[in-house]
Amino acid sequence: MKIKTAKFAISNSDYTKCPQGNLPEYAFIGRSNVGKSSLINMLTNHKGLAKTSSTPGKTLLINHFLINDEWYIVDLPGYGYAQRSKDSREKLKKIIEDYVLEREQMTNLFVLVDSRLKPQAIDLEFMEWLGENGVPFSIVFTKLDKLGKVAGAQAVGAYKRHLLQTWEELPPVFLTSSEDGRGRDEILDYIGQINQSLSEK
Ligand code: GTP
Ligand code: MG
Repeated sequence: MKIKTAKFAISNSDYTKCPQGNLPEYAFIGRSNVGKSSLINMLTNHKGLAKTSSTPGKTLLINHFLINDEWYIVDLPGYGYAQRSKDSREKLKKIIEDYVLEREQMTNLFVLVDSRLKPQAIDLEFMEWLGENGVPFSIVFTKLDKLGKVAGAQAVGAYKRHLLQTWEELPPVFLTSSEDGRGRDEILDYIGQINQSLSEK
């Protein structure tokens, strides 16, 4: 799928105030600093569309970006940033959970995991929670440019094997780098296919 236009639409902390209408939306979630906002800029080919930062905890709101006037990309706050106060972590958790569970337009959640790290409990628990709640999701490995070819393939393979200890089957998996653009066509084609099947309903 080609991205013709990508426009910031609205930011807020309340899923009920997100854009009205029934355009499908695709949200990006994961630990603080995993690379959600960078991936959105890479996918849309639009540096600076989503705000990025080298310090965790940059994105604190639900951010909608309208793509090709047909669907939305949604940038979500990261979870699990330990430096934050308990109170503000709880608030972010509530924003994320309400959005994920209640937002009817949310078509697929992309869960980002850092390809350099061993499977982290916080991500595994989050995916477990998605499964229990029947939320459709895919896994996106980020920052693969930081690993060599062999190490990258090994890390992803080990992660999948770990998941298969508890999951019967794996969700779709994407290997990405916001630095070199790998994974872009695969994710956009995946979204394009879902949009196509929704429009045929
Ligand atoms: P929060 O909004 O704070 O939750 O973070 P985020 O998940 O949106 O991460 P963000 O996109 O702001 O990126 C965090 C840091 O990781 C920045 O310094 C990025 O430049 C870097 N980064 C993100 N993606 C990649 C990647 O694919 N490769 C490399 N080398 N660095 C990346
Ligand atoms: Mg961000």
